[in-house]
Amino acid sequence: MSARRKKFLPYGRQDVDGRDVAAVAGALRSDWLTTGPRVEAFETALAKYCGARHAVAVVNGTAALHVAMLAAGLKPGDRALTSAITFLASANCAEFVGATADFADIDPRTYNVTAGTLRAAWKDDVRAVVPVDFAGQPCDMPAIAALARKRGATVIEDASHSIGGRFEHGGQWHKVGGHAWADMTTFSFHPVKTITTGEGGAILTNSDRLAERCRLFRNHGMVKAAGAAGTSRKKSERQWNSEKGPWFYEMSELGFNYRITDLQCALGLSQLKKLDRFVRRRAEIVAAYNAAFASQAGVQIPQVASPGARTPRVAWHLYVLQMDFARLGQTRTQVMQRLRDQGVGTQVHYIPVHLQPYYRRRHGYGPGKCPVAEAYYERCLSLPLYPAMTGKDVEHVIRVVRKLAK
Ligand SMILES: Cc1ncc(COP(=O)(O)O)c(C=O)c1O
Repeated sequence: MSARRKKFLPYGRQDVDGRDVAAVAGALRSDWLTTGPRVEAFETALAKYCGARHAVAVVNGTAALHVAMLAAGLKPGDRALTSAITFLASANCAEFVGATADFADIDPRTYNVTAGTLRAAWKDDVRAVVPVDFAGQPCDMPAIAALARKRGATVIEDASHSIGGRFEHGGQWHKVGGHAWADMTTFSFHPVKTITTGEGGAILTNSDRLAERCRLFRNHGMVKAAGAAGTSRKKSERQWNSEKGPWFYEMSELGFNYRITDLQCALGLSQLKKLDRFVRRRAEIVAAYNAAFASQAGVQIPQVASPGARTPRVAWHLYVLQMDFARLGQTRTQVMQRLRDQGVGTQVHYIPVHLQPYYRRRHGYGPGKCPVAEAYYERCLSLPLYPAMTGKDVEHVIRVVRKLAK
């Protein structure tokens, strides 16, 4: 029975319904296409959902990380430590500001960096750590923050995968984006992520100063009122223009145009209302996959660690199986093609970033630097996971993956 299935299941995709479409159409008909009321409304709703003081929305998750690095004051001569298993952007943001991106190994169970792996990779010039909540599983943030703060490094949690997640610490639940163990948390709203704005991202923080700096760098480093907070207050600089009307603007830092539009934020506001439902549906699919694959030979299902007393709520973004391809008698490429022929899309998350040609050339990194990450990479494969998958879709994926082993 190898008839091709008509419906193709990608590894991830957006879930956009009529309400989302109506929300965007409403923004299109309004007076504001960008920098309008929907941007502020989205930021307020996002901050409220996460329990953070501030949310600053930007054009994409990469820009969110770049802005966070700028707000943290990272500069040439500084180093930022992130996970070897992540998307390029978690590391590249350090290089954007002239700092050095460096990598810590992952825990073999959660595929996340830990305080232990960060400590092992630490050098004297580390000024920022970028733990990544891989696949939606929150890192052990209290332990990571304790290490980073003792050593004077800013904590920027890359939560591109984990919006809607939470973990327990000290007898209480803490939400990703709002808890006290990250100085800043970044999200991505790319269409494969749990909620989307098309392209989009945000920085969440409880610090008034960092939020102000993020807003500054998002918009050319420009403020409307001279001498306003976030700009230089030196007398000589304040007096460079003696006539100051409401039209006046001043740039004292080099920023970017990373502004998000009202169209994107209209979609984001509508998607945010469905976030908890999306997280629940993703968890149901993961539970079905786990039950089906737990005892399958040559396959390792995802594991969840419990640094607190209770298992964290993982906001599953990816479903990654580790497969012993040699035991299956096929290469990963052959397995991916076989699944594809049967309508099942897969992806590899991720190639260890320190093995990328840029990082080898620039910093001399190479194989052996993060051995757990490198071994993980040899075996990882992400299966389809998104809320719009039907029960039949999930059964189909299970059937064809089980058949691989036979
Ligand atoms: C872990 C991680 N960090 C950062 C990003 C960058 O986000 P964006 O694609 O919105 O720029 C992504 C998105 O792929 C990601 O998965």
